[in-house]
Amino acid sequence: MLNQPTLVDQFGRTVDYIRLSITDRCDFRCVYCMSEEMTFLPRDEVLSLEECARLVKVFVNLGVSKVRITGGEPLVRKNALWLFDEVGKLDGLKELVLTTNGSQLEKQAIALKKAGVKRINISIDSLNAERFKKITRTGDLNKVLAGLQASKDVGFEGIKINTVLMRGSNDDEAADLVQFAIDQKIDISFIEEMPLGEVDHTRESTFVSNADTLKLLQSKYSLLPSTESTGGPARYWRVANSDGTSDTKIGFISPHSHNFCESCNRVRITCKGELYLCLGQEDKIDLMPLLREYPSDDAPLIAAILGSMRIKPKGHDFDLRRAQPAVIRFMSHTGG
Ligand code: 5AD
Ligand code: SF4
Repeated sequence: MLNQPTLVDQFGRTVDYIRLSITDRCDFRCVYCMSEEMTFLPRDEVLSLEECARLVKVFVNLGVSKVRITGGEPLVRKNALWLFDEVGKLDGLKELVLTTNGSQLEKQAIALKKAGVKRINISIDSLNAERFKKITRTGDLNKVLAGLQASKDVGFEGIKINTVLMRGSNDDEAADLVQFAIDQKIDISFIEEMPLGEVDHTRESTFVSNADTLKLLQSKYSLLPSTESTGGPARYWRVANSDGTSDTKIGFISPHSHNFCESCNRVRITCKGELYLCLGQEDKIDLMPLLREYPSDDAPLIAAILGSMRIKPKGHDFDLRRAQPAVIRFMSHTGG
C-alpha cells in the first residue's frame, strides 16, 4: 500500500507533505518567534525520537512523499541524526528536507547529507553580526555562515535562506540579502511575520509586506516570474543574469494572502504529537495518546490520521490587528 494518495481531504486536496517539529527548544531566541523568557515543554510531553520515526513511517505508508524536519531548532535535539537516518531509509519517501537556524551545520552537514537530506532552509535575517545577535538574541552570525559554507561543500541539492523582515530592524537589508544569495548561488525566501504566539512586540508595529519588498527588489534587479509552486504560500521569481540565464530563486511567503489554500498539500505535527491540519487554524488531533496507548498497533493511529482529513479547514484566518494572536501556539511548537 505504498504511496497510494490515501490522504485526501473534503476539498479534494491530497496531503503528501508533512512538517514535523522534533523539539520546541532552540539555541536562539529570535524576537519574532519567542519571548525573551521562554518556558519549554517537559521532556515527557515531547515525542521521543522513536515515536517520531514511527509516525513518519505511518504517514509515508499513507502516501506522504515529502517530510520536513523542523523545530525549534531540530539539530539541537540529542541524537537527532538517528531520526534523519531512519526517515532517510523509508521506502516511498522522495524528499527529506530540513529547516534549521544553521548553528549546528558546520558539525552536522556531512551526516545530514549521508542520511539523505536533499535540501535545507537556513534562517538568516541579517548579514550584520551585531544586528544578527540583536534579532536572534543569542545567535552568532559567523557560526551560521560557517554552517552555510559546510552545507555548500557537501553539495545539498538546494540551499535556501529564510528571512523575516521587520520594520525598523532589518527591513533595509532585503537587497543585500538577495545579493548575498546571488553571490552564494543559493535561493532566498522572504517570510512575512506571522502572529504565532505572544512575543515582546506587537506584530503590527514590525510588519513588512512582501508586496513592498518585491517592489523594492524589482527596482534593483530584473526579476522573472516563475510558475513553480510547492503547494504552499510561496510565490517565486528568478533573478535574470545579464546573459539571460538565471540561478537564484526569490520566494515570497505571504501567509496573509489566501490564494494558496486551494493547493495546500501539507499538515504539521508538533513536537507534542498534535496533528495540525492548517498553520493558521486550531483544528487538530492528538496523536501522542494513540502512539503511547498502542505501542505496537498502528491501526488506531492510521484511523485517526485518515479521519483528520475530514477536518482540514478550507483556509486560514490570520489578522494582524487582533489584540490576541489568532494562533496562540508558537512556530517553535508547530514547526516552520
Ligand atoms: N513569523 C514568520 N516567520 C517565522 N519564523 C519563526 N517564527 C515566525 C513568525 N512568527 C521563521 C523562522 C524560520 C522559518 C521556518 O520560520 O525564521 O526561518
Ligand atoms: Fe529558533 Fe528558528 Fe525560532 Fe529563531 S525562529 S528562535 S532559530 S526556532
